[in-house]
Amino acid sequence: MTLLYEGKAKRLWATEDPNVLRMEFKNDATAFNGEKKASFDDKGRLNNAISTAIYGMLEKEGVPTHFVRQIDETNVEVRKVDILMVEVIVRNLAAGSFCKRTGVAEGREFSRPIVEFSIKSDELGDPLVNDDYIRELGLASEDDLAFLRESALKVNAILIAFFAQCGLKLVDFKLEFGRLAEDPSKIVLADEISPDGCRLWDLKTGEKMDKDRFRRDLGNVMEAYAEVLERVKKATSA
Ligand code: C5P
Repeated sequence: MTLLYEGKAKRLWATEDPNVLRMEFKNDATAFNGEKKASFDDKGRLNNAISTAIYGMLEKEGVPTHFVRQIDETNVEVRKVDILMVEVIVRNLAAGSFCKRTGVAEGREFSRPIVEFSIKSDELGDPLVNDDYIRELGLASEDDLAFLRESALKVNAILIAFFAQCGLKLVDFKLEFGRLAEDPSKIVLADEISPDGCRLWDLKTGEKMDKDRFRRDLGNVMEAYAEVLERVKKATSA
């Protein structure tokens, strides 16, 4: 089948159905906008399993997503979307670029979640932008932005509760959305939800269980992802 797109951690393949794609999870890991690279055996499988379980749970909670079904250990079928060039980040606690930008110490709990937008562009390093930038650049309409914000906050509330069941604190995460190829009036959640794009801390020990282990050379990267999968599996089968 034809390779349509290759990103840092995934490949998208055509299928016989023009409205459905195959999304393949790679073992490659990147950080700091591709400056740091590595490959981890099993990462594709772990992220696929985690993301598949989470998308299934979100669909049950009434969140429309691109997910159709899992094909095998590293592949899923997804509805074809036109990805919005706006990434949505939700933060519950201070970490990462928030701390760098503001000087606030890691771990400060916010009184309410912070939603931020950035332009999806490797070339520009995904710059943080506000609503006016997005409107002026024609990346999304005011109505779309309101929808993205509302959806992101809904997903945040669901994920906070879900990860709490897994003994994990949801610090922050990134979401991507796309317009359905078959009906561009519908915007759905796309991409993946995995420890690559979420910060997850163990509720008891505070241990980092996500890509920060790779970013900061903390070791045991895949062990942490495997532990997240075990807990996610337990919570989804409960
Ligand atoms: O680096 P920063 O603190 O802005 O990241 C916030 C959250 O968004 C983190 O969970 C990070 O993994 C995720 N993120 C991502 N892809 C990006 C930027 C951030 O998955 N391009």
